Amino acid sequence: MGNSDDLKLLFASRYPLVIAEVTDETRFLEIVSSAAAELTLPVWVWTATRGLARTQNDAQYGTKEPGKALEFARDLKDPAVFVFADAGSALEDPLLLRTVKEFAQSNSSGQTLVITAARPVVPPEIKDLAVLWRLIPPTAVELKAMVMRTLNDLKIKQVPVTLNDEGIDELVSSLKGFSMAEAERLVRRAAARDGAIADDDIVFVRDQKAQMLNHSVPLQVMNVEIALDAVGGLDGLKEWLRLRGRAFEPAAKKFGLEPPRGVLITGVPGCGKSLIAKALARTWSLPLAALDVAALYGPYVGESEERLRDALSTTEAMAPIVLWIDEMEKAFATSGKGDGGVSQRILGSFLRWMQERAEGIFVIATSNDVQALPPELLRKGRFDEIFFVDLPGTQERAQIFGIQLAKRSRDPKDFDLDALAAASEAFSGAEIEAAIVAAMYRSYADASALDTQSILNELKATVPLSRTRAEDVGALRTWASTHAVSAGGPSAR
Ligand SMILES: Nc1ncnc2c1ncn2[C@@H]1O[C@H](COP(=O)(O)OP(=O)(O)OP(=O)(O)O)[C@@H](O)[C@H]1O
Ligand SMILES: [Mg+2]
Repeated sequence: MGNSDDLKLLFASRYPLVIAEVTDETRFLEIVSSAAAELTLPVWVWTATRGLARTQNDAQYGTKEPGKALEFARDLKDPAVFVFADAGSALEDPLLLRTVKEFAQSNSSGQTLVITAARPVVPPEIKDLAVLWRLIPPTAVELKAMVMRTLNDLKIKQVPVTLNDEGIDELVSSLKGFSMAEAERLVRRAAARDGAIADDDIVFVRDQKAQMLNHSVPLQVMNVEIALDAVGGLDGLKEWLRLRGRAFEPAAKKFGLEPPRGVLITGVPGCGKSLIAKALARTWSLPLAALDVAALYGPYVGESEERLRDALSTTEAMAPIVLWIDEMEKAFATSGKGDGGVSQRILGSFLRWMQERAEGIFVIATSNDVQALPPELLRKGRFDEIFFVDLPGTQERAQIFGIQLAKRSRDPKDFDLDALAAASEAFSGAEIEAAIVAAMYRSYADASALDTQSILNELKATVPLSRTRAEDVGALRTWASTHAVSAGGPSAR
């Protein structure tokens, strides 16, 4: 159930109990009022602070107690709609739950009880009596109508609007996920901010969306300033991403391109998987949301699935967006951890979502341990491509030295990058970075300058992980040779 017509239908059919998921109470009460008005039903609203009151009237004395308010409602015996705002927690109280149940069972006078909650849970005791209703956010068409109306109004007020048709469509799409009232408020705020509506307001709206996100959702919206140039090597993957990024342009759709849906990046630890994922969003000028795997799993039955659902629907509301799932095996490995099938169900929900999700969400998943990933995830069609990030080749290592030195305000020209690259065979990007940092510590302690030789000394003192764990790396490569595309591209080893 999901829109105002459904709600009207429920009222008209004298449905006794509706549990509504409501985050925008003002809008919800508007919908209830207009649906009830068409049926000439009076609306009563109960809140914990006021008690029960008929719209526009004073609250009835002694009805702050929800049980008392319910009694009052039942004694009225006239058809009416009773909205109990934020009363979801009342259902946790056995006595109140019983009262609600009896209210719904004995209802012969056409009264509808509507209990609202931000995250409603329907207790099993009343499952058969209640309907769960959730407000579907306004559609793009509805939003566009509102945007056109608001822009016209702004123009009348002498506010310059320089958005072209494509800009307007982008503004509309960045407003997705907001309620109508919030969306209009945002457009007006964007205008008030600098006295105009222009291209930069699309970015403003996206930023606002990131900030308004419910913080309980296991999703972290990140603002990263890493460009693809900060990633050494991986030319094949970079080129793939550069080409695909343009598919989000409105013109690409007209051209007949479908936006890409996702990549899985696997490979040797420390070689830039997470780095490139972070750099990607910035390259495509899209927001980046990281799924917080650790926060996904909750102690209660059903909680984890609910959290995943929240995270995914929030992502959808923010599209176009890059969704980053780092160390994916931690979220979706299903190797019998004895968790009562939770991870199995989480995986199921996720796969379903991957299949059905709307356009405009690009999933970038990284994994160190592909063997731990369930095969369903790797099947063709889930991701556009699976990339394998190997140890950097000689040229790539020279590039990484340059990048890491520049990051620390050193001029790469002052160093012999080729000598460093030659001396760091089998080193990962992370190990190269670590050698530079170690050399810097030593140089600082010795009051000497950081030079090629000091880094060479550190390299000599390090045994790279790929040597100590040669077997693991070998196994990864064997797997990748048949399952993945090399991320290295032409300049790789
Ligand atoms: N190709 C690269 N270019 C530049 N820097 C790199 C590269 N690879 C690694 N680094 C440096 O090493 C750090 C760690 O790399 P990153 O976290 O991306 O590795 P990873 O592949 O995700 O490793 P893990 O498998 O351990 O998660 C990066 O933040 C970066 O500073
Ligand atoms: Mg990583």
